[in-house]
Amino acid sequence: MNTRYRKTIIAGNWKMNKTATETKKFAEELKPILPKAKRCEVVVCVPACNLSTAVRAFRDMRVSVGAENLYFEKSGAYTGEVSAEMLKDLGVKYVIIGHSERRQLFGETDIIVNKKVHAALEAGLNPIICVGESLEEREMGITLDRITLQVKAALAGVSGDKIRKCVIAYEPIWAIGTGRTATAEQAAEVCNEIRAVIRNMHGARTARSVTIQYGGSMNPSNAEELLAQQDIDGGLIGGAALDPAKFVSIISAANQE
Ligand code: 13P
Repeated sequence: MNTRYRKTIIAGNWKMNKTATETKKFAEELKPILPKAKRCEVVVCVPACNLSTAVRAFRDMRVSVGAENLYFEKSGAYTGEVSAEMLKDLGVKYVIIGHSERRQLFGETDIIVNKKVHAALEAGLNPIICVGESLEEREMGITLDRITLQVKAALAGVSGDKIRKCVIAYEPIWAIGTGRTATAEQAAEVCNEIRAVIRNMHGARTARSVTIQYGGSMNPSNAEELLAQQDIDGGLIGGAALDPAKFVSIISAANQE
């Protein structure tokens, strides 16, 4: 983390978990144990159907709400989809774009990710853009090439001042939901490379202002070491973010620095 130049963000990605009722229960349990003074921004990204419940439930806790996806068109005949403006109107602040589950299970390409990033920024949302390599790619030694391509594609055509509103989440696919975390060195190497890619595109000032998160089996026991790395400015947390006590432990690790 480097809180001098950029925000630290601890974000939960609930994926397809919790009903609206369970969302309210989570907020009630979180409230008494959430540290009052936070040196990081706390975000919960919830299923689309629970967004308005979440916005209401977390409002007085200074916890921001994020969506897990959007569609890039403004409106029209796209049955089942949700636009950036619809999210913004609900009081949503962040939106996850290009999560590996969406890339793998729902066919999202780098081009679609780029369109979604533009749509989110245009509506005034902050995109959390996920990038990450597969185990095969890591073993082939092409991790940094893969990440560079994903970052360049996601940010193509985005101006420097808009890039400051973007968060990049490095999520190695082999570490997601597996209990197998990247080592702090592995995560730091890739997050450092992501910043270098942005530096090459938009200069040092823009690059140092961008929040870069790590995601993939982050939990209370490994968060501190990961967050101690200069270029890791927070976490995107799946499983551990579903439990208020574990989520708070990770927030506390970010508060210590
Ligand atoms: P886990 O923390 O469950 O590994 O999930 C990480 C993730 O995919 C967050 O977006």
